[in-house]
Amino acid sequence: MTLRAVVEGVGHYLPDRVVPNSEFEKSLDTSDEWIRTRSGIERRHFAADDETTSDLAVHAARAALENAGLNIDDIDGILVATSTPDLTFPSVATMVQRDLGMTRGFGFDVQAVCAGFIYALTNANALILAGQAKRLLVIGAETFSRIMDWTDRSTCVLFGDGAGAVVLCAQEGDGTNADRGILSADLNSDGRYREMLYVDGGVSTSGSAGKLRMQGNPLFRQAVEKLTSTADTALEKIGMQGSDVDWIVPHQANIRIIQGTAKKMGVPMDRVIVTVQDHGNTSAASIPLALSVGVSEGRIKPGDIVLSEAIGGGLAWGAVVLRW
Ligand code: UT7
Repeated sequence: MTLRAVVEGVGHYLPDRVVPNSEFEKSLDTSDEWIRTRSGIERRHFAADDETTSDLAVHAARAALENAGLNIDDIDGILVATSTPDLTFPSVATMVQRDLGMTRGFGFDVQAVCAGFIYALTNANALILAGQAKRLLVIGAETFSRIMDWTDRSTCVLFGDGAGAVVLCAQEGDGTNADRGILSADLNSDGRYREMLYVDGGVSTSGSAGKLRMQGNPLFRQAVEKLTSTADTALEKIGMQGSDVDWIVPHQANIRIIQGTAKKMGVPMDRVIVTVQDHGNTSAASIPLALSVGVSEGRIKPGDIVLSEAIGGGLAWGAVVLRW
């Protein structure tokens, strides 16, 4: 028998405020047409002034627990992937613990920017396989609206706020690709590319949160190449290829990156979950949001092979293959 970490529940939360592209035309030299054609984004959600990352995470966690038919007492630990925490410390995960009434177990944050959910899921898988936990909440939650430079049209039109969560449970498998659960993962980072996407402030530099800075075009080119290679590596580790994948659930940064990666992998777009038009780039929240949408629309079903891949600041990138 082989231990597997299986997704038993998924949920998401989006703040009420929906901002269409046309909103930016009022204050910036931009257009709905430019944003749609260059990124695929049509609208995004922004958190209310009094709504924090942990608030979004708590809503998503509750939805995932309900979907799994479990309650917080069943959970051994919480991992939150975020780069926009409420405070420098404590972690968002401990705030989620408090708000859900969890007085046992552990919680910690994972910071790998847009690849954060892939990193958190891989860490959660390792904790389960090592026998450290039986049931974990893995959450991606962000309020990127808080680190936007609203005068920079090349970035502020691209990002949004939201949260998604999964409940990951230990289950016995037979050690083959027929098992449900996480079958393979591949993580990478390369700090030489730091200038491509970063925030220009922080605790030990400016003492302030800072604003997001991005070299969009060079990053775009890195993204398609690195996402394809990490996806291929994750599949190769378990003797699979693109044709074995039922659903690609990619990080939602740009429809052209999503299309380019799917094409290179030989996977048609009708087997790709796309939410970028409605959510914009929600960084670490984008994959669990897309998973939740894919499941609630009845597209991702138990037994399906799901491949998720993401890249972001660092650069940090990676992929996970799992059987739903
Ligand atoms: O989540 C982490 C990973 N993120 C990514 O992977 C994002 C990767 N990059 C991208 O998605 C794309 O590069 C962007 C959507 C950011 C930009 O698309 P692009 O096709 O690479 O455009 P560009 O940066 O080459 O800019 C083309 C032109 C420039 O004008 P000039 O120099 O050609 O006159 C920009 O100044 O578009 C201009 N531009 C805009 N025009 C209207 C940049 N932003 C805007 C805007 N509205 N909002």
